[in-house]
Amino acid sequence: MQEKLAKIREEALARLNAAADSDAINEIRLAYLGKKGQLTEVLKGMRDVAPEDRPKVGEWVNDTRKAIEAKLEEVQKKAAEKALALRLEAETIDVTMPAKSASLGHPHPNTLALKELERVFVGMGYEVVEGPEIEYDYYNFEALNIPAGHPAKDEQDTFYINDKILLRTQTSPVQVRTMEKTKPPIRIVAPGRVFRSDDVDATHSPCFNQVEGLVIDKHITFADLKGTLAQFAREMFGPETKVKFRPHHFPFTEPSAEMDVSCFKCGGKGCRMCKGSGWIEILGCGMVHPKVLRMSGIDPEEYSGFAFGIGLERITLLKYEIDDMRLLYENDVRFLNQF
Ligand code: DAH
Repeated sequence: MQEKLAKIREEALARLNAAADSDAINEIRLAYLGKKGQLTEVLKGMRDVAPEDRPKVGEWVNDTRKAIEAKLEEVQKKAAEKALALRLEAETIDVTMPAKSASLGHPHPNTLALKELERVFVGMGYEVVEGPEIEYDYYNFEALNIPAGHPAKDEQDTFYINDKILLRTQTSPVQVRTMEKTKPPIRIVAPGRVFRSDDVDATHSPCFNQVEGLVIDKHITFADLKGTLAQFAREMFGPETKVKFRPHHFPFTEPSAEMDVSCFKCGGKGCRMCKGSGWIEILGCGMVHPKVLRMSGIDPEEYSGFAFGIGLERITLLKYEIDDMRLLYENDVRFLNQF
């Protein structure tokens, strides 16, 4: 028996010394100390040992186990150290290597034009406000003097969520929302997305951006409208810019006009940009209709005001001389990086 144990010990230690990694070491542990291991088998065989010899044999078995366990611990420690050393070597970082450059995005030309526009109006004391894109028919049409059946509703067809709720076709409803909850004086610009069932082409999109403007106070006249918008045009398109007002019709303003700016490309002589006319249309405007004031709880006998609506994309296309609106929505960074 003693011989057999000595042989087990010798063999186990030799195998452990040669073991390559912790998997191999574990396998050897099972082969000797596991449930079906060689040493465990010897212990099971104690039944056949004479009772008086058992303490002696038990001691031999224990010695063998201890020797194997000590060796196991030793080689396992070595294997762990070796594995760590290998990992450290594999994960070495070369701090002198050039870094991968992160590619940054670029502000959209619409955003650039809007920031510029906001800078001009905030400089004149305006506040920037926003309204919901999903809007009540009441705010988008009714309260702007566009009752059911009005032909303007045809021109501004949109997506209806139900009879009363729709995707707003203009930013003008923000006027009504502001007048309802703010006492004059009011001076706001309201940028935002609007929606119409238009087909996509070089100058149309079913989703685009407008900027609404509204001023309400005592004694506001068309002269204030003209002075303000002329100043805006000069700041936006250059100090030489002239403005021209053409009579127009909007249901929520009376009188109403469209404003043209002198072509900043040719200075008014006529070129491709202004289609030879020397003028470029940029916005709609007018004096807020007394009915609109009254519906929003403002007394038209006491207060008056003006409003305007600007198509943001139009300003962007003009300012950056882009000839197709679709380019604005493709988000190709090679295009965006140019502005
Ligand atoms: N909401 C108008 C449109 O979408 C634009 C507009 C015109 C707004 C005149 C105004 C305005 O506030 O006074 O066609």
